[in-house]
Amino acid sequence: MKVLLVAGARPNFMKIAPIFRESTKSGKIECKIIHTGQHYDYAMSQSFFADLELPAPDYFLDAGSGSHAVQTAKIMTAFEEVCIFEKPDWVLVVGDVNSTLACSIVAKKLMVQVAHVEAGLRSFDMAMPEEINRMVTDCITDCFFVTEESGTENLICEGKPAERIHFVGNVMIDNLFHQLEILSRENVERYSVYKMKCEKKPYIFLTLHRPSNVDNRAVFQGIASALNEVALDGTIFFPVHPRTKNMIENFDISFSENIVLLPPLGFRESLFLWKDAEAVLTDSGGLQEETTALGVPCVTIRENTERPVTVSLGTNILAGTKKDSILDAYRSIPDKMKKCSVPPMWDGLSAGRIWKILDQENKAISTKAQKPNDK
Ligand code: UD1
Repeated sequence: MKVLLVAGARPNFMKIAPIFRESTKSGKIECKIIHTGQHYDYAMSQSFFADLELPAPDYFLDAGSGSHAVQTAKIMTAFEEVCIFEKPDWVLVVGDVNSTLACSIVAKKLMVQVAHVEAGLRSFDMAMPEEINRMVTDCITDCFFVTEESGTENLICEGKPAERIHFVGNVMIDNLFHQLEILSRENVERYSVYKMKCEKKPYIFLTLHRPSNVDNRAVFQGIASALNEVALDGTIFFPVHPRTKNMIENFDISFSENIVLLPPLGFRESLFLWKDAEAVLTDSGGLQEETTALGVPCVTIRENTERPVTVSLGTNILAGTKKDSILDAYRSIPDKMKKCSVPPMWDGLSAGRIWKILDQENKAISTKAQKPNDK
């Protein structure tokens, strides 16, 4: 079975790492990594390949930044050539970024089977580019791999066939457990953030990059004002995404001196900081899940989440984006932490389940193809 495994932006790299690692175990899968180049800076891309022990991609499509249409079109044009040349049995896409959308469309139009890891998640917020990516990708997906029950429910509501929907758990958590194990053996004193961490304990960890939060001056100022108040309690470590850095400068947003602005961190340095934080404040999708898996309190600075199990079972509190609602959510952490658990099948074994199912699906398709007259 030949599979093209697609990744383009930072959160994709964490998802493909366990899938690729697992693919090498059977000896029967030819799995090629396609990096679309949606993220390209060393700190946003190569540093992740290094931390996650991913080999250099088989193809780098060099799409780069641009408007959504430009970026998607560049990825599609370049990926089409790869797909035509490689003739894969499957294109496996993960998550909800523009690369996910672009490559699934290309594959489907070339009659290549599409598998989507993290299928069925819905924020029901069509102002989110990721929601559009998720919905369009799932419209043309052949095999759905789902991380939480809400994903299955959403796909069934949308009329997808139940036999193509597979609840396999969460590859983000496979990666998290694997990386924690490496971290336990690592010489962390060489990390750029090591000294800061020791000196500033206890601290909070913050990430912010959603366009809806940082591209609007009034919204960003309200969030910053809440953060400055939280920072009265102590240090906040804030690795700053390139988009956010631009907007801090454009809008002249000012932060308390207790908020330590850092460059984007590699996966492991970031994990080294947030795993021991008093709380994580974020608008990231992945961190909502990872904090839930490790029992770290998480305040999500968004109006909605496509990962509701992190709120119903996990440590996640949905805070909204207004100053007062963020502060209320932050203050409610002690209550929230009284009753939390890890969602089912977030056990570090999801990638293995995915390959087992894909192998069965592939065999079923080959058998059908050999018997074209069977009804
Ligand atoms: C993308 C994903 C988002 C994901 C996020 C993680 C989409 C629609 N969005 O958003 O779902 O949560 O990645 O980071 O796919 N830039 C750099 N260097 C880079 C990449 C980007 O400087 O390596 C800057 C550019 O100015 C670019 C901006 O960041 O215009 C935004 O990058 P882009 O890939 O368009 O979207 P993200 O906000 O990163």
